[in-house]
Amino acid sequence: MPAALLIGAITHSRKEWEDLASTLTLQEFPSGSREEFIRNCQAGQYDEVEVIYRSNTSTKFTGPFDAELLAVLPKSLKYICHNGAGYDNIDISACTEKGIAVSSTPVAVNNATADVGIFLMIGALRQAYVALSALRDGQWLGKATLGRDPQGKVLGILGMGGIGREMATRAQAFGMKIQYHNRTRLSPELEGTATYVSFDELLANADVLSLNLALNASTRHIIGETEFRKMKDGVVLVNTARGALIDEKALVRALDEGKVLSAGLDVYENEPEIEPGLVNNPRVMLLPHIGTMTYETQREMELLVLSNLRSAVEKGEMITLVPEQKKVFGK
Ligand SMILES: *[C@@H]1O[C@H](CO)[C@@H](O)[C@H](O)[C@H]1NC(C)=O
Ligand SMILES: *[C@@H]1O[C@H](CO)[C@@H](O)[C@H](O)[C@H]1NC(C)=O
Ligand SMILES: *[C@@H]1O[C@H](CO)[C@@H](O)[C@H](O)[C@H]1NC(C)=O
Ligand SMILES: *[C@@H]1O[C@H](CO)[C@@H](O)[C@H](O)[C@H]1NC(C)=O
Repeated sequence: MPAALLIGAITHSRKEWEDLASTLTLQEFPSGSREEFIRNCQAGQYDEVEVIYRSNTSTKFTGPFDAELLAVLPKSLKYICHNGAGYDNIDISACTEKGIAVSSTPVAVNNATADVGIFLMIGALRQAYVALSALRDGQWLGKATLGRDPQGKVLGILGMGGIGREMATRAQAFGMKIQYHNRTRLSPELEGTATYVSFDELLANADVLSLNLALNASTRHIIGETEFRKMKDGVVLVNTARGALIDEKALVRALDEGKVLSAGLDVYENEPEIEPGLVNNPRVMLLPHIGTMTYETQREMELLVLSNLRSAVEKGEMITLVPEQKKVFGK
């Protein structure tokens, strides 16, 4: 019987995982260090493992799935089912070379992430943190000043995938005009009433700029000094995707200079560390990467990982294979 290895924990779908025991030998590495994990691999403990369930806490224990780790993983391994929409801590091209297919959990995260994006956008437009903290400090309004309305403003969406489109749907209810940029223009059905513009036009037109694209070598620091200069004075920046999409030090400068009025951030370049210039700026709304942290979404994500795992073992195909591998492993 082939084996499946769970790295980290399954919290809301434990029963569904245990149900797999009828067709798979279930093994677990619930916690521990990278050294321990590598030792287990080298000792042959996972030699029958065909598929890995890589939970959202795996990186904490095993570190990234980089070339070093891939080199010691069992030869029998064919599939990595990752729990998370982002998979920048898995070296996809190294996996492809070794013939290992990787799935992630897009779609399931869309609504919860877009909800947090809107929360941050409104919070940043209203500079809500000033008022929130004044009230808790017993100062009622404190230094709270007038905020801005979303109505009639241009929301620029960079990266019009599932999350970007849910952002657009929600923002339209607030009376915002949607412009977007994506490397490939969307089909008319997906595009809806949003307007496709070039990257530079998006920077120039947006009153609020929301980042909804994946992080990789070509998108790292896609927003930096040069891009801030192309934006409107008083722009609001929202990031629920990945911190390193923004040059955080350049953002701090742009905030200090008043170029950027405010920002709403759920993600940071060096989590859990945050630039002091962001923490100390009360105009900025900050959250500790809670985008998908709702009960419903966490369970949906776990179930999608398990569906991928089952489909991989039973049919030899992933349901939500990462796009970089579509040409190689896609059906
Ligand atoms: C997101 O919300 C919409 C509207 O409520 C719903 O139709 C859709 O199924 C949800 N998407 C996911 C992936 O849960
Ligand atoms: C956005 O562009 C990327 C890269 O070309 C493409 O893979 C993706 O399908 C596009 N998004 C949509 C929704 O068409
Ligand atoms: C970055 O990710 C997109 C998919 O989101 C992919 O199409 C593109 O090839 C990737 N670029 C690099 C350099 O990996
Ligand atoms: C990881 O997933 C579990 C179970 O779905 C969830 O309870 C937990 O909050 C998640 N942790 C993070 C950091 O997202």
